[in-house]
Amino acid sequence: MDSSAAASALRPVQIAGTGSYLPEKVLSNADLEKIVETSDDWITTRTGIKERRIAAEDQSTSHLAAEAVKKALAQAGVEAADVELIIVATITPDTLTPATACYVQKQLGCDRAVAFDVSAACSGFLYALELARTSVGAGAFQNAVIVGAEKLSAYINWEDRNTCVLFGDGAGAAVITPATADSGRVLSSQLGTDGNQAELLSIPGGGSACPITVDNASERLATLAMQGREVFKHAVNAMKRASIEAIETAGLQSSDIKLLIPHQANLRIIDAIVERLEIDKEDVFINLNRYGNTSAAAVAIALDEANRDGRMQRGDKILLVAFGAGLTWASAAIEW
Ligand code: COA
Repeated sequence: MDSSAAASALRPVQIAGTGSYLPEKVLSNADLEKIVETSDDWITTRTGIKERRIAAEDQSTSHLAAEAVKKALAQAGVEAADVELIIVATITPDTLTPATACYVQKQLGCDRAVAFDVSAACSGFLYALELARTSVGAGAFQNAVIVGAEKLSAYINWEDRNTCVLFGDGAGAAVITPATADSGRVLSSQLGTDGNQAELLSIPGGGSACPITVDNASERLATLAMQGREVFKHAVNAMKRASIEAIETAGLQSSDIKLLIPHQANLRIIDAIVERLEIDKEDVFINLNRYGNTSAAAVAIALDEANRDGRMQRGDKILLVAFGAGLTWASAAIEW
């Protein structure tokens, strides 16, 4: 989906504040060596990941999300009571229903807000951004909060070395409001989906297609299953295409991009995209070494860290791009 045609009819929106939250517990590659047959060397050379965060037992996805939202609201100067829309992107909801966004609303006292979840895996935060951009842009809401939040550790088979080394927990959030004369703005946004490749990356059990029963409980079907090599190829191609679309739709060129914030799944995937887009490596934000792949939270956490580290100055053109299960992909060009 290319949003450019509709864009002109909408008022522009800005990212007014960002926030993120990472649980305290660190799980290093050395720790994983004690759990499955793997090595720091294998994980580092194949993925770039050195450690990831693991939420406490009593922390669910909504708790991580709420902490990130608090920081984003504080930075934006928006009161919880003035939030009108909360969209949580997650594949690890607190419960199948109600939506995790409802728990976030309750925890923060955003009593006026409409709250719901988006399930678009690692692209979820950018799907939420597009929903907020169009609904705030259309005038339906003034203050929207978008969140990417995951407790993936609850959906990992800790005996499967193919997946357990890759993922981590965390949350990132952004406040979306109408742009002002002296603020930045979202310039373009693209979403895409290919349901024909759904089986490449999924949590096969626990839904209506395959409920967890006493008979199948030992098969651990409610954990992430992935065909890594196939996903890798699709990720490189889709993220490259989506990046080019976002740049072109915004009327920009690769050389205009001051900072690329890609989905943080694998350093080799990022390197392949950067090479094809001809963007300098120094202009790419990377934190997957510290957090692993946090799915919908990854781009959101990276955006917040880039913001708070001063990596983005007013007027800079920023490119966000993500890819995940679905398959889904998404990109956005932003003037900071
Ligand atoms: N430690 C040690 N060895 C491992 C391992 C681990 N944690 N995980 C897999 N291996 C083994 C495999 O069993 C395989 O062994 P074999 O050749 O004896 O069968 C070998 O390493 C190579 O596996 P392969 O799948 O070819 O590795 P790869 O280079 O493709 O890297 C991934 C694997 C998962 C890191 C890579 O495919 C990837 O990153 N894919 C995309 C994943 C992703 O980003 N998913 C989320 C998308 S949002």
